[in-house]
Amino acid sequence: MSLLDVAGLRVTDRAGNVIVDDVSFDLSPGDRVGLIGESGSGKSLTALAVLGLLPPGLTATGSVRLDGHDMIRSPRGHGTAATVVFQEPLTALDPLMTAGRQIAGPLRRLRGLRGAALRAAVHEALAEVRLTDTDRIARSYPHQLSGGQRQRVAIAMAVACRPKLLIADEPTTALDVTVQAEILDLLDRIVTTNGTALLFITHDLPVAARVVRDTHVLRQGRVVESGPITSLIAAPRHPYTRTLVDSARRFDAALQEERS
Ligand SMILES: Nc1ncnc2c1ncn2[C@@H]1O[C@H](COP(=O)(O)OP(=O)(O)O)[C@@H](O)[C@H]1O
Ligand SMILES: [Mg+2]
Repeated sequence: MSLLDVAGLRVTDRAGNVIVDDVSFDLSPGDRVGLIGESGSGKSLTALAVLGLLPPGLTATGSVRLDGHDMIRSPRGHGTAATVVFQEPLTALDPLMTAGRQIAGPLRRLRGLRGAALRAAVHEALAEVRLTDTDRIARSYPHQLSGGQRQRVAIAMAVACRPKLLIADEPTTALDVTVQAEILDLLDRIVTTNGTALLFITHDLPVAARVVRDTHVLRQGRVVESGPITSLIAAPRHPYTRTLVDSARRFDAALQEERS
């Protein structure tokens, strides 16, 4: 059975504008699937609909089943099946709470950990995202950490309770290129080690190619092409996918020129 089954998903606003239109895809345990498209194509709203977290004023119809739960009829019903990492870790983190306390939150609520066991689990979570000096990081507030460290803390929070599905929505877009590569490697390692399914959202085809196997290309709220990402890059069928591939190539060429 699929872990996530999205069929004919439609998201509309109050005025009746269709923002996500007839999107269907599924994901089995351990799968890594990409959702690629330009800014405004409906990627984040698709992810939020999957999580039952659409902002007020937006309505989802169609079918979304996450780990057996109907996310359209009962959006809060999925428990701990899926968690999300956003582009900007500051949106996930409370500025007034230390990193340690934030990671402790879900571990206490969902795994019932207390006292020494809770402290040990927090340090384990920080070590899992390859943060060294875990004592200092646990005591730090978000503003005392670098962008990369903050994203690691957000990932630690998201994976500490072992979700079956991790949704990563542009998780490296706000980071420097070198830090981006480290975070992609980290996500890759964590989902592989834990057998977590990954829905990876990005506007950046080469970034997606590093972590996903299959992908869907979204344009103006519709899936225009789906398939293994390597075939999509080698032989895009839809003109829109072709423009994504071409612009990635041009960017690459410009980078090469700059280096030589
Ligand atoms: N809360 C909202 N209410 C109405 N429209 C929205 C809302 N959030 C996003 N949109 C619109 O929906 C479209 C898709 O947004 P989004 O899913 O965030 O795109 P992406 O993540 O692909 O950049 C955009 O045109 C955006 O302006
Ligand atoms: Mg988005």
